[in-house]
Amino acid sequence: MRRLQLTTAGESHGPGLTAILAGLPMGLRLSAAAIDRELVRRQEGAGRGERMAIERDRVRITGGLRRGRTLGGPLCLHVDNRDYANWERSMSPLPRRGPAPAPVTLPRPGHADLAGVLKTGAGDIRAISERASARETAARVAAGAACKVLLAELGVTVFSHVLAIGGVTAQPEYGDLAVLAAAAAGNDLHVADPEAERRMRRTIKSVCGDGDTLGGIAEVVATGLPPGLGHYAAWEQRLDGRLAQAALSIPGVKGVEIGDAFAGARMRGSRVHDEILPNPRAGRAGELRTRRPSNRAGGLEGGMTNGQPLLLRAAMKPIASLTRPLRSVDLATGRPARAARERGDCVAVPAMGVVLEAMTALVLADAVLEQFGADTLRDLKAAWRRYRNRQAKQ
Ligand SMILES: Cc1cc2nc3c(=O)[nH]c(=O)nc-3n(C[C@H](O)[C@H](O)[C@H](O)COP(=O)(O)O)c2cc1C
Repeated sequence: MRRLQLTTAGESHGPGLTAILAGLPMGLRLSAAAIDRELVRRQEGAGRGERMAIERDRVRITGGLRRGRTLGGPLCLHVDNRDYANWERSMSPLPRRGPAPAPVTLPRPGHADLAGVLKTGAGDIRAISERASARETAARVAAGAACKVLLAELGVTVFSHVLAIGGVTAQPEYGDLAVLAAAAAGNDLHVADPEAERRMRRTIKSVCGDGDTLGGIAEVVATGLPPGLGHYAAWEQRLDGRLAQAALSIPGVKGVEIGDAFAGARMRGSRVHDEILPNPRAGRAGELRTRRPSNRAGGLEGGMTNGQPLLLRAAMKPIASLTRPLRSVDLATGRPARAARERGDCVAVPAMGVVLEAMTALVLADAVLEQFGADTLRDLKAAWRRYRNRQAKQ
């Protein structure tokens, strides 16, 4: 991150989560409703746990905004944890009278629990798990919503859809991306293939009913990006690397694919690379002199956007907290035992997709501000327009 800085604070069952996003230009129109919309989407989906029924995530904007427009200072966004009411004794930030809460000593496979206590020497796994929890992603989604609003001012849209849950794979139509976005927005699993959506619901019902969990794949799509965001010249400025880091920072995400990376790796180059053709629409507003008849590269070449839609997939491992826990060791006694049970989700792939949108929007907004950096939205838009006009003539 260069121009934008995001810091989040808060624990899963503490009083709430806060995001501080520094580096937005002055003059961006922002509403609580635009942020709440994204927070609600993060809570959706069949297979979510009881926690999502308790929480009603709504943002409180406590800094950086005046009468609906950014001031250019850090934006401070807060989301309350309603569940804190049930956890006050254990999670109160300040000491409380009464007995201390019993420590959690049964690490859950697939979580930060074991590595975290070994790293810190903490005697209570809760000292690790409360912060490692994906509840933190509510703060990221709030900040990402502000980045999406900034990008939308420049004509850039970011959406996600679910490509796989467990072994069920969707085969959506990519012909018209606005149609794809609308289809994904039409159901709480964010799947743009109705037949696959039905099968996914059946799978979720049966696997979750069994007390087991599922992972899957979500894809983020960003349209309206000009060529040349990011940089070819320095490893740390390559946009593909920056996007991959942001995606892999999402709890549970273990793999990232840009475009058709994994299928392409098994094919010949002549079948993979996207040819460059003259654009018959050249000369019209927003049109380049060249066009690409395919987008297997997923909109990124040489560490930069290439003017095609950005396509990035993230693979999420199955949820790690199981109703019928796996084998573990009680760290208090050293004896074998079943891992601790935590109330949680059975599937969170659609929610992960929403977090992926937020992280993608954050990286893209950062790259935009780095390249066109401006104190005000008006100056940013002017620099963006100049750049696009120059490219249309090249
Ligand atoms: C939106 C979202 C919700 C999640 N909900 C849960 C959950 O309820 N229970 C759980 O065990 N893991 C959940 N996870 C996944 C864990 O947070 C993740 O597996 C864990 O942090 C370890 O992942 P890591 O090895 O990638 O850090 C969720 C992840 C995301 C992105």
